[in-house]
Amino acid sequence: MLNLNFHPFPELKTKRLRLRQVLPTDVEAVMKIRGNEEAMRYIPRPRAKTTEDALAVVEMLTNGINESKSINWAICNAENPSEIFGIMGYVNFYPEQSKAEIGYMLHPDYWGKGFIPEAILEVEKFGFEQINLQIIEAKIDPRNENSRKILLRNDYQFDRLVPKEMIFQDEELDSEYYFKQKHTGLL
Ligand SMILES: CC(C)(COP(=O)(O)OP(=O)(O)OC[C@H]1O[C@@H](n2cnc3c(N)ncnc32)[C@H](O)[C@@H]1OP(=O)(O)O)[C@@H](O)C(=O)NCCC(=O)NCCS
Repeated sequence: MLNLNFHPFPELKTKRLRLRQVLPTDVEAVMKIRGNEEAMRYIPRPRAKTTEDALAVVEMLTNGINESKSINWAICNAENPSEIFGIMGYVNFYPEQSKAEIGYMLHPDYWGKGFIPEAILEVEKFGFEQINLQIIEAKIDPRNENSRKILLRNDYQFDRLVPKEMIFQDEELDSEYYFKQKHTGLL
């Protein structure tokens, strides 16, 4: 059974990062991330254009935690945790399959510094050990090479390509699915 009680909020730490809850006071930073065209290119969600849009994102993330439907962490510099530059977490749970879908994004100013590879290890550890996941799934737009690199380097396996899986803003989008299984220690 999955453990989907996230109270108190489980903060995580890596060498350079602190992963904490996204708060209403982060609205300007969320606006910068979710409003950035480059960062949102392969994320089929409406881009935040106003502070209200960003606040709605914060509310959605908060409700997900309170309703045990998702959990997302703000990615911050360990030295300056008031400023967030990314969001990462489990965006969907599938309890009957002991599975969750992982998602992540950074403001482009912070790309290429290995922050997601660093954060993903702690988020996976939490998923396998605390939530009790057996499988972590990731879904990408096949054009998103940076995201595919993260997954392949982090030992995710390709599962399937689903052509024209959805329509977003009048565009038919394909999805590639990847997965990682809990390491049981058995051969
Ligand atoms: C995908 C993403 C999370 C990668 O995170 P990251 O912490 O930058 O990952 P890395 O530091 O390992 O860099 C990954 C690749 O990005 C590319 N990259 C590096 N610096 C870059 C820069 N300044 N600008 C653009 N791309 C860059 C490189 O190809 C790098 O691979 P390399 O190590 O072979 O050079 C990030 O690009 C992002 O937030 N993208 C937008 C949101 C998104 O698409 N999320 C995934 C949805 S499934």
